[in-house]
Amino acid sequence: MDSSLKQTLVNSIRNIPDYPKQGVMFRDITTLLGNARAFRRAVDELVHPYAGGKVDKIAGIEARGFIIGGAMAHQLSAGFVPIRKKGKLPHDTVRIAYSLEYGLDEMEMHRDAIIPGEKVLLVDDLIATGGTAEAAVKLLQQLGADIVAACFVIDLPELGGRKKLEALGVNVRTLID
Ligand code: PRP
Ligand code: ADE
Repeated sequence: MDSSLKQTLVNSIRNIPDYPKQGVMFRDITTLLGNARAFRRAVDELVHPYAGGKVDKIAGIEARGFIIGGAMAHQLSAGFVPIRKKGKLPHDTVRIAYSLEYGLDEMEMHRDAIIPGEKVLLVDDLIATGGTAEAAVKLLQQLGADIVAACFVIDLPELGGRKKLEALGVNVRTLID
């Protein structure tokens, strides 16, 4: 990936100190999403290795993973599967508890969202501790997904998320640190 794209993406992200908790530097992607060129280039770069029918479905993590993942699904002509915070999905679900940089939560998927063996890309805006993505990987594996890769715009490497996913055998793709 060329360094001018990295710089465009870094420059389009807003940093908010002490949000949502003291000591957290929040990486706000709403400014990237509102910048037509940065948003398009980020999505184009993320989908690039997977063009040509290599992916059946995108699994996007609520909420910011829905925005990036929805755009990627469209580009790849893939289906989109939502991984939602608990209590939001109407049909039969699988659920898992997890922790993230600033809290605890539970996520769910519809039990019939994946046909076993389907090639799935997991997508979110950012990986920090990796607690969220690790939980999503476990749900996808429980449903029999073949996880092609986990894709994020932003990696916060000092929080160890990428290594956590790689230790599970998941291929991780990120655009900026
Ligand atoms: C953020 C982000 C990732 C997660 C990463 O989501 O979008 O999903 O935190 O943190 P981790 O790597 O430490 O697990 P958040 O739970 O804030 O939800 P939101 O997208 O609904 O704001
Ligand atoms: N999710 C977990 N940590 C985060 C951070 N520092 N900025 C934005 N989203 C996050």
